[in-house]
This record gives sequence, structure tokens and C-alpha cells, in this order.
Amino acid sequence: MKHKLIKVASMMALGIMLNGLVMINVSAADIGKLVEGCDYCHGKDGASTNSKVPIIGGFSAPYMIDAMKTYKNKERPCPEYEYPEGPNKGKKATMCEIADDISEGDTKELANHFAAKPFVRATNQPFDPVLAEKGKVVHEDLCVKCHDKGGSLPSDDSSILAGQWMDYTRQALKDYSAGKRPMIKKMEKKYKKLNEEDFEALVHYFGSFK
Ligand code: HEC
Ligand code: HEC
Repeated sequence: MKHKLIKVASMMALGIMLNGLVMINVSAADIGKLVEGCDYCHGKDGASTNSKVPIIGGFSAPYMIDAMKTYKNKERPCPEYEYPEGPNKGKKATMCEIADDISEGDTKELANHFAAKPFVRATNQPFDPVLAEKGKVVHEDLCVKCHDKGGSLPSDDSSILAGQWMDYTRQALKDYSAGKRPMIKKMEKKYKKLNEEDFEALVHYFGSFK
């Protein structure tokens, strides 16, 4: 009797193991392919080397899921971008189309994948130290509450600003200012207090993180 129980238990364990293996294999294949698609534009592990394409490795999963949802719903601008490499090289795509093609479950898996990668700060990105210092003062006054430590903490779930490509951040700020991208009410309240010259100062401050 005891012997039989152990046999059943070990067969069940084997079954669970096999099940687990099969499941892992299936999703690894699919997600691996999706990730490859992202990496053609965003760089290996989301460490973009192109200033127009944001670094996404190291973003928190909740931020990433939110961003994909915003693109899916076309609530933020979707500039066309040409695949620099891969099978679609030379073809153009937008983040809205890309996000729309991915299921909710796969989006979650993608978000977990990129959240486990490091955020590799942009290199060879010159900044003006005087402007950066001005930006720091503005940031500490109005933005630090939700973008702590220069906006370097993924756990804030407010993206990562420190070390992001300045071209991308400049565009993001332009989109917010033009009302083309939604922001949460509490950010808007602080954002409204910015002067025209504060924007470039902030861009240089975030770009000063190496
Ligand atoms: C054809 C090139 C291309 C591909 C492929 C691509 N992206 Fe993007 N992605 C971009 C560009 C360009 C932007 C910046 C668009 C903007 O200004 O909003 C962007 C922005 C993003 C953002 C917003 C970043 C932020 O800071 O808010 C996320 C998240 C993102 N992409 C995730 C992905 C994921 C996940 C994949 C793969 C499923 C992917 N992208 C595939 C070009 C691409
Ligand atoms: C009350 C919290 C809060 C405050 C204050 C705040 N932000 Fe944000 N910020 C967020 C959240 C949440 C997001 C991500 C969601 C979104 O797109 O709105 C974000 C997104 C951003 C982004 C886009 C990042 C990306 O990857 O595309 C930029 C740039 C930004 N904030 C700059 C600022 C600046 C500059 C200030 C100060 C004037 C500021 N924020 C103040 C919460 C805040």
C-alpha cells in the first residue's frame, strides 16, 4: 500500500515536471521570437544604441504593460520607425501596430523579460553641465517625488529617466507639452509650473547620468 502511494506520488511529480517543461518550452519559443522582434529596434536586451529609440531593458513590468496599453489604444504618438536590421530591415512600423499585435498575456511576459534586464545607460551622449545643474534644481523641486534619484528607480513605475537617450526624452516632453500624450493629473499639476527653458535643462540633467 505504502509502496503504491509512493509510486503514484512520483508518477504525479513526473507528470507535473513534464507539464512544466512543455509549458516552459512553448512560451520560451514564442516569447523568444517576440523579444527578437523588439531587439531589432531596441537593441539587445532593450539596451538601445539609437538615440531615437528608448532604452527599455530594466523598466518595471507595470510601467511597460501600461506603455504598451497606451500604444495599443493609440493614446500616445506612434512615430514610424524603420527596422535597422532583421528580416523586416527597411520596413517601417509603429509602436501602436506592434502593441496591437501582441496579446495581453504575451505583453505581461515581455514586460517580465525586460524587467529582469539591466537598464544600460546611454553612452557617448554629450550634455551641458551648466544646463544639467539647472535641470537638477527643477527636478528636485517638481519631479523627484515620482521620479526618485533622477528618475533611476524602476520601482517608481514611472519609467526610467536617468541615462535615457536625450533625443527620446526631448520628444517625450514635447508630446506631453503638445497635449498629445496623456499624463496623470498629479504630474500635470507640477508640469504646468515648468518654464520654456526648464525643458532643455531637464533633458540635460537626465542625460548627465552615465
Ligand atoms: C520598428 C522599430 C521598433 C520595434 C520593432 C519595437 N519598438 Fe518599441 N519603440 C520604438 C520607437 C521608435 C519608440 C519611441 C516611440 C515614441 O516616441 O513614443 C518605441 C517605444 C517603446 C516603448 C515606450 C518607452 C517609454 O519610455 O515609454 C516601449 C515600452 C516599447 N517601445 C516596447 C517595445 C516592445 C516590447 C517591442 C517588441 C514587442 C518593441 N517595442 C518593438 C521602436 C520599435
Ligand atoms: C505624481 C507623480 C509624478 C510627478 C510629480 C511627475 N511625474 Fe513624470 N511620470 C509619472 C508617471 C506615473 C509616468 C508614466 C506614465 C505616463 O506616461 O504618464 C511619468 C512619465 C514621465 C515621462 C515619460 C518617460 C518615458 O519613458 O517616456 C517623463 C519625461 C516625465 N514623466 C517627466 C516628468 C517631469 C519633468 C516632472 C516634473 C516636472 C514629472 N515627470 C513629474 C509620474 C510623475
